[in-house]
Amino acid sequence: MVQEKKDPDMTGREEYGSSKEEGIHSVEFATHPPAPSKISRDDFNVTPWEVVGSVDYSNLIEKFGTFPINEFIIDKIKKITGEIHPFIKNKFFFSHRDLDLILKEYEKGNRFYLYTGRGPSGQVHLGHLMPWIFTKYLQDKFDAKLIFQITDDEKFLFKENSNFESIHKFTYENILDIIAMGFNPKRTRIIINTRDIKYLYRISTEIAKRITFSTAKAVFGFDNSTNIGMIGFPPIQGAPCFLPSLIEKKPTPVLIPAAIDQDPYWRVTRDIAEKMGYPKPAQIHSKFIPGLTSGGKMSSSRPDTALFTVNNPETIEKKVKNTFTGGQPTITLQRKLGGNADICPVFWYLNYLFDTEKESQERYHDCTSGNLLCGECKNDMINKVIPFMKDIQIKREKAKDMICKFTVDGKDLNADSAIEFD
Ligand code: TYM
Repeated sequence: MVQEKKDPDMTGREEYGSSKEEGIHSVEFATHPPAPSKISRDDFNVTPWEVVGSVDYSNLIEKFGTFPINEFIIDKIKKITGEIHPFIKNKFFFSHRDLDLILKEYEKGNRFYLYTGRGPSGQVHLGHLMPWIFTKYLQDKFDAKLIFQITDDEKFLFKENSNFESIHKFTYENILDIIAMGFNPKRTRIIINTRDIKYLYRISTEIAKRITFSTAKAVFGFDNSTNIGMIGFPPIQGAPCFLPSLIEKKPTPVLIPAAIDQDPYWRVTRDIAEKMGYPKPAQIHSKFIPGLTSGGKMSSSRPDTALFTVNNPETIEKKVKNTFTGGQPTITLQRKLGGNADICPVFWYLNYLFDTEKESQERYHDCTSGNLLCGECKNDMINKVIPFMKDIQIKREKAKDMICKFTVDGKDLNADSAIEFD
């Protein structure tokens, strides 16, 4: 349980104190792969590579030393944008670091960049889309420039049996989804690490020099069996946090919308930012879209857990119909005892993405009181998600002709960069 703490200015930050935020050595982190004892103690485990169990988000705020998105921040966003996005209203985005500072600076006329990314390990699923939908919204509302990093190197290094042929295929496929989100081509640049490393290498080297192996072990759980590519990777994901300051030739703040699994990267980057003369990267963290099976997040490395943007209507229907729910084993028991909406992925998909606040409240009530059967919720989900994915599929087709508008050099993905001699 999270204890009630003082928050006099209602910024959400006094609750945890800056010493905790910077105290990366004092916070406990899972090893990679997570040790079983860790999972059984907390019943869940969150790392940038894996989410296991049923996540207690209040507990995670405590563990990671982040700050809840509170009324003060919500009011501030409302004051600036005139509205509150449903993902904040329904608490899908629930935590942050320095979002209040980003908003305060924005009010003074200081613009920020957005930064987010994707590790191309497979096709894009519903979970990935959530931070991107929100990033697109923020880009529109704040007219912000966006750096979108594709960590093909990360996926090669971190995944057993990976090869660059398949990772590059997914890089292309994932970029179609990213473009399909509708990001502004004039204000968005996609950086593909192995292709565009020259834009990151100097900054990442400067970051790397300031992070010890001991810190990397404490934060990421590396050990003696970790390959040295993995150990050297975190500064490369940190580098785009500082790139905007180089592009703009002045200290430029960055806001990172992502699920909270990416937080360890920002923690090490924040720790050294000011020493390097850059603003600390700010974040807004989302929860996870749960997997179709029981426990854990929707994950492309476990296709049985995911609804992919490339799935056809028949596959979507089949997957949703087979989804784990919080329902009772029989209709009679469901009518008598009601279902458990809290643990039901279908309820949460509808809550996060498709139902209005009122519809979701009614659904919750009807489910838990036995008035609603799982089949009815699944049908609602099928009827919403098929057209949603169809729309993305149409936009993905159009995106095939737009890739050069988003690359850093305006060239296509396979632009020839071979070394030649006269
Ligand atoms: P990746 O490819 O694992 O995930 C891409 C984005 O999707 C989020 N995410 C989810 N959000 C909600 N529900 C889920 N089930 C779910 N699964 C994944 C991730 O948090 C992420 O925002 N290392 C990164 C790539 C990266 C990046 C970044 C991500 C590079 N720079 C900056 C965010 C911000 C990765 O492999 O993400």
